Amino acid sequence: MSNLKGRSLVEPEDFSLYEMESLFSLAENIEKNDKILSDSCRGRLLATLFFEPSTRTRLSFEAAMLRLGGSCLGFADPGSSSAAKGESLADTVRMAASYADAIVMRNPKEGAALLASRYSCVPVINAGDGGHHHPTQTLTDLLTIRQLVGRIDTLTVGFCGDLKFGRTVHSLAKALARYNKIKMIFISPSELVLPEYIKNVLKKQNVEFIENENLEKSISELDVLYMTRVQKERFFNEDDYIRLKDTYVLNTDRMSLGKKNLIVLHPLPRVNEISIEIDSDPRAAYFKQAKYGMYVRMALLAYILGVV
Ligand code: CP
Repeated sequence: MSNLKGRSLVEPEDFSLYEMESLFSLAENIEKNDKILSDSCRGRLLATLFFEPSTRTRLSFEAAMLRLGGSCLGFADPGSSSAAKGESLADTVRMAASYADAIVMRNPKEGAALLASRYSCVPVINAGDGGHHHPTQTLTDLLTIRQLVGRIDTLTVGFCGDLKFGRTVHSLAKALARYNKIKMIFISPSELVLPEYIKNVLKKQNVEFIENENLEKSISELDVLYMTRVQKERFFNEDDYIRLKDTYVLNTDRMSLGKKNLIVLHPLPRVNEISIEIDSDPRAAYFKQAKYGMYVRMALLAYILGVV
């Protein structure tokens, strides 16, 4: 019996490893038979409040709710909401909570999801709060690793690109730190290194990790390579963005240095950091990853709405 009913998800640690395993098992069952929970959310409403652009997160949540038989309402552009007239986040969330059974929210401000969860009488799912966290991307990433590698332990995972602003990296690194025998290699330019507060979490949990600036040097060690986009929207200075944006480009030469059973993940959208020639390499797993995101969000909605 799940105790996820009615719970919010602000950061990955909000759920225990046992609860995440339950989600992954259900997501895997849904992937095998996507009819098993059809109609389970009939009559339920999901509010999607997106104060920042999104393709995958918003559409996969909406697809997940519709596939469960429920319905969605919300906005994809805050300019079309009363936030544009100066309404506070707290009031917007109170309103959505009075209309819907759960809220999915993306907001450019770190901490916005936590604040929303405090003002909402229905569960709030963080779909990304600034450069902070993106816990349902982490569920997606972990499910993809579990499906394609067969385990979420005894792995060397490389994170490459913008590790400073990349919220998916922050959430995934903290989540992986709870599994056994995970070594992490953080590959970034010196201006875009992992924030100290994440490193401190890893140190406290005795996670083995190293930092370097060289993808070629590390790729042969990796079981999982997690590429990321340089987050243009978080830069204060466009010149810095232009200087850093193409620091790492995964191309066939670099891929040739990777293991045969390496998997390459990317939360997407990609800009230039993975050449399209890599898409046909069997180790490229980022489009499968995006699809797993819908299954794990179906499982999450089913659990927090208490229909399983
Ligand atoms: N991975 C991810 O969050 O993608 P979107 O920004 O398109 O939602």
